[in-house]
Amino acid sequence: MVMMEQSRLPEFDSENSEKVVEDWTFAKEDTKYMTHGLHAYPARMIPQIAQRLIHRYSEAGNTVWDPFCGSGSALVESMLADRDSIGTDLNPFAVFLSKVKTTPIDSEILRKTNEKLDRKIISVQKKSHGTLEIPEMHNVDLWYKKYVQDDLAVIKTAISSIGDLGVRDFFRLCLAHTARATSNLKKSEFKIVRMKEEEREKFNPDVYELFKANVRRCIPLMGSFVKALPVDHKVSKVLYVDNREPPIEDDSVHLIVTSPPYGDHSTTVAYGQFSRYPAHWISLDYEDVKSVDRRGLGGRSPREYDESLLDSDTLKETYRLVFKNSPKRAKQFFNFFFEYNQSIESMVLKLKTGGHACIVVGNRLMSRVRIPTHRITVELGSALGFEHKITIPRRIPTKRMPWKTAPENIPGLKADTMHNEHIVILRKD
Ligand SMILES: C[S@@+](CC[C@H](N)C(=O)[O-])C[C@H]1O[C@@H](n2cnc3c(N)ncnc32)[C@H](O)[C@@H]1O
Repeated sequence: MVMMEQSRLPEFDSENSEKVVEDWTFAKEDTKYMTHGLHAYPARMIPQIAQRLIHRYSEAGNTVWDPFCGSGSALVESMLADRDSIGTDLNPFAVFLSKVKTTPIDSEILRKTNEKLDRKIISVQKKSHGTLEIPEMHNVDLWYKKYVQDDLAVIKTAISSIGDLGVRDFFRLCLAHTARATSNLKKSEFKIVRMKEEEREKFNPDVYELFKANVRRCIPLMGSFVKALPVDHKVSKVLYVDNREPPIEDDSVHLIVTSPPYGDHSTTVAYGQFSRYPAHWISLDYEDVKSVDRRGLGGRSPREYDESLLDSDTLKETYRLVFKNSPKRAKQFFNFFFEYNQSIESMVLKLKTGGHACIVVGNRLMSRVRIPTHRITVELGSALGFEHKITIPRRIPTKRMPWKTAPENIPGLKADTMHNEHIVILRKD
């Protein structure tokens, strides 16, 4: 019974039981070392998890694919472990962030460019008098005070004079960070929520100082990444595509390390909303940026339930439980898993025989029903040609949960916090 599942952790196969005593919380570890610390992203994978999985299930010179690469945690760890890697994501900001995090740049070059940039900012500022173009943005005045818009536009213009593309993108990422920090957005939210009026009145950020401080913080992070890379390091290819149709050769990937979304973006973690304003300030394609949450798994209009389409008893049982509470939610539930199944299909296709897929999943609540995504993943994967090796439960040490408001979107109703996630390990037979 699905309801009974909620209170206990899954069993382990005895063969692998010694692995269970390992600590997967990494509670006291720094998770923002090297380029992992350049910019926030919702529901990031703990780098230490990616690192352990990569070392355990692949060898130097192998290729690792993260189909839902987000901010690129698994890609950075692949490079550090001397593996080639491919990242795919349909959020243009995630792709940009992953690219910057996996493009090593000598810190001396960054320091020298930064000195020039400081001077350029002053000269642009002297000439601009608030006349610079502000990037296309819906209701920009709601989200930025006028002087903040002008200051960000000055920095943006100064950065555009940097010749080297990789170096320019590093500074664009620093600008994206400043664009979030200086916005009227409530920073504790991943969704687009404005600060209260009293807060906004008191909020007068020093845009230039914040940008400079962030650059000073980021250069050493990049420096330590460059130092830690193996000689003749491998590369990471980051692709802006839906992982259900990736331009990756079949049977070519040795290992998959990934964490899919918890559910459709709108009712769980809105990656698109989180990225929107930083992405606008670095002029990523406007429509692409705005449509992320619609294009993410389960974001399209719900399809009719057809239980013959998905081979998972747990999924069918869970569908019935959700349906009892909300037929509308049940449709969304089915839609998400229908599309998730397509992503798993793609993983089977691209993986070499004998290769592993390590999928880190969170079990969300939907209409008061805990969705056992780890079990559904195992069942869907098994039906598509994977063998289930082990499921490792992992306590989430932080109190900060990916979303606080209940998915029902009823004001004041808070979602039950999720204390565990699961690392599902599958092998292609
Ligand atoms: C949980 S996040 C991944 C976080 C990542 N592991 C990290 O460390 O930052 C899930 C990601 O899946 C992406 N996504 C959702 N549907 C997708 C699809 N069909 N194809 C590719 N990416 C998708 C979202 O844009 C989001 O960045």
